[in-house]
Amino acid sequence: MKHVKRLITDFDLNDKKVIIRCDLNVPIKDGVILDDNRIKESLKTIKYAIGNNAKVIILSHLGRIKSEEDKIKNSLKPVAARLSELLQQDVVFVEETRGRVLEEHVKDLKPGEVLLVQNTRFEDYPDKKESTNDSELGKYWASLGDIFVNDAFGTAHRAHASNVGVASNLPSALGFLVEKELKMLEAVINNVKHPYTVIMGGAKMRDKIKVIDKLAQKADYLLFAGGIANTFLVASGYDLKASVYDEESVSYCKTLLDKYDDKIILPVDGYANLSYEDTDKPIYVQNEAVPDKSVVLDVGPKTINLFKKYILKSNTIFWNGPVGVFEFEHFKTGTKNICELLKESNAVVVVGGGDSASAVINLGYKNDFTHVSTGGGASLCYIEGKSLPGIEIINDK
Ligand code: 3PG
Repeated sequence: MKHVKRLITDFDLNDKKVIIRCDLNVPIKDGVILDDNRIKESLKTIKYAIGNNAKVIILSHLGRIKSEEDKIKNSLKPVAARLSELLQQDVVFVEETRGRVLEEHVKDLKPGEVLLVQNTRFEDYPDKKESTNDSELGKYWASLGDIFVNDAFGTAHRAHASNVGVASNLPSALGFLVEKELKMLEAVINNVKHPYTVIMGGAKMRDKIKVIDKLAQKADYLLFAGGIANTFLVASGYDLKASVYDEESVSYCKTLLDKYDDKIILPVDGYANLSYEDTDKPIYVQNEAVPDKSVVLDVGPKTINLFKKYILKSNTIFWNGPVGVFEFEHFKTGTKNICELLKESNAVVVVGGGDSASAVINLGYKNDFTHVSTGGGASLCYIEGKSLPGIEIINDK
């Protein structure tokens, strides 16, 4: 039986310390936010809490923290500044993830005020307390509030201290963003019309390769690009020289290719550079003749033509991950062409993922698709049929 989860609207928030877990994991370069979509999508819940006189405490992760250096690059400070602009009110930013300073700021919060805690994954270095859902850490964060609201759809597939850990120790509910995402994804999944095509590219190759088997049981076609496609191409015997691929997954990809030979469609050509950098002289390459030291950074015209055949005959399409390094001026054409084809198709199109959403928004296609999800891994898990721990843990109505 499906459980109906509590929503933020089921609680009286007046004068309560409300911890909201958001996914404010946005791309930042040299302190500048490149795409603030996830912050904007989080506003509805935050504003609702402010409007209902809650003392708002926001938790979020940013990137992955494996060293002290990662901490410097992944401070949430620029996010606090952007959030403050968007809310048009001050946001207290606390540089620590625990301790006296944080506790005092929480104590000083007045109804309607907002506090953002430093990146929860600072707790991952050195001993992965956040991402292993350390029970003491979840309890500690929960001790800062009265109610927990999970609005971090993008992180719902993770069982971390800042979502599952806190929710295990407080009355809990879902926020408006999670509610909207579930509604949209559920409507598509319960209503898949074939041919059903999944397009996958982007980063986090290993995570994505793991879900392919399940997806292939439901989808008619799987169009791969980027590092995922490279791993399959290496498994097929191609030498892609310096291109990114996941060595550990090569033999598994061979098995998948044997099993789903008729469903998996791989790029046949692309554009490369001699380093992982932009250039105004991309090198055109075909799989069988990638020049030494080349890094393939985008799909080529023959691949787009091949993908076009499948996209235009599909009735449902799920797209996760750009097909090239769209952040580079000279390697965004493939991703732009995919956007155009999706726009041209008559299919229900769901775009899932931080990077894919950024690409779609930056290239100007946000309103052309059925749903642009803020969650990549989370939406993949959801369409694969897996339960999402960040949502499962929330109290039922
Ligand atoms: C995402 O960008 O997909 C989410 O913020 C989760 O990030 P993660 O893959 O680093 O857990």
